[in-house]
Amino acid sequence: MTLAPPDHPLRLLHLEDSELDHELTLAHLRRGGLDVQALRVDCEAEYLRALEQPWDLIVSDYNLPGFSGLVALDLLKAYGRDIPFVLVSGEIGEDTAVEAMRNGASDYLLKNNLARLVPALLHAIEASETRRARERADLELGESKQRLHELAQHLQTSVEMERAAIAREIHDDVGGSLTALKFDLAWIARHSDTPDVLARVNNALETVTLAIEASQRIMHNLRPAILEQGLVAALQWMAARFEKRTGVVCILRTPQARHPLMQHLPAGVPLVAYRTAQEALTNVTKHAQASRVEIDLALAGRVLSLEVSDNGCGLGQDDLAKARSFGIRGLHERARTVSGWVDLSSGPGGTTLILSVPLPESDEAEAAQAAEADDEPITGPDDEDPTHWGEP
Ligand SMILES: Nc1ncnc2c1ncn2[C@@H]1O[C@H](COP(=O)(O)OP(=O)(O)OP(=O)(O)O)[C@@H](O)[C@H]1O
Ligand SMILES: [Mg+2]
Repeated sequence: MTLAPPDHPLRLLHLEDSELDHELTLAHLRRGGLDVQALRVDCEAEYLRALEQPWDLIVSDYNLPGFSGLVALDLLKAYGRDIPFVLVSGEIGEDTAVEAMRNGASDYLLKNNLARLVPALLHAIEASETRRARERADLELGESKQRLHELAQHLQTSVEMERAAIAREIHDDVGGSLTALKFDLAWIARHSDTPDVLARVNNALETVTLAIEASQRIMHNLRPAILEQGLVAALQWMAARFEKRTGVVCILRTPQARHPLMQHLPAGVPLVAYRTAQEALTNVTKHAQASRVEIDLALAGRVLSLEVSDNGCGLGQDDLAKARSFGIRGLHERARTVSGWVDLSSGPGGTTLILSVPLPESDEAEAAQAAEADDEPITGPDDEDPTHWGEP
């Protein structure tokens, strides 16, 4: 491959004690079609001063009085400058050449083979530009990924806030009006003795009752009020409802609900765990063809984990890459909002999804734990297991 010379004069820093060799090098470069602006330096002080300026390339003699090409290379690295560096020597041993390349030299040449000089320099410049472009692209990609994560997390949080606000409005406005309506209809029913009116009012009462139930259901889906009774209670309710609705056996194991750490879960964690279990169970219904699901909520050290495993058909990498599937992707982002993470494993025996959330040190939880320890043991006399598995 022929490399094109740069479209501007090549800024060359030449570390060379012999003026004659310097001239010879320049002659080779010009003969090779390169327009060069060169500065020759031959000692460490001058070299360091020169490093302040912008250079396209450094060519260095290997042996200099009181200085050496390898030291110059180390200084360049220490200085944090990314400039292609080519070592030239009257005689360079293989070991030295290998060491120089390992230390970041772009290339090395023998002085008696300066015919290779121009292609070697052009190649060094191009390799350095390619590397820099790749580093820039990696950096931009990393920043863009980070922004995407932040956006996804922000969306998760704002969706939850929006849901909570809608649930509140349904509760206050719709729920309040329906209850008032039901109250008035009941009053009319009590004070009317016309059979037609009574029949109509009772119909209306039924409709209002259904509307109240529907609004409660919608409110619950928007914002699970059951979470106010704690994560354990909410999961128990979810598991029971899932089993009843789908016929799939659902076993739930949880730590003791009154465990101090469970009572002082950081804000956001119960909802993240709840939504994770909800999505995992929805996936079991939609995809797994399972007959049994186990949900394990556990505390190990200061890490809360929620494991949902089914005995279904399992999933593959292709399933996770589906363009229009956002459930599991959303769970990863949700977990990040509370500094947690999600692991997914699958095989012929089924699928397991685990949410892990490290719980921060909290004075409140520590104090509660200490008080609890003074008060009564977390495990009762009949229950030696500190995690006291709850009812399925
Ligand atoms: N428990 C499971 N058993 C078998 N396959 C599963 C299970 N969970 C997920 N999958 C597979 O992984 C895919 C991705 O799941 P994911 O929850 O991300 O998306 P989805 O359920 O298809 O859509 P949604 O965005 O509504 O959640 C599913 O389409 C399904 O093929
Ligand atoms: Mg899903």
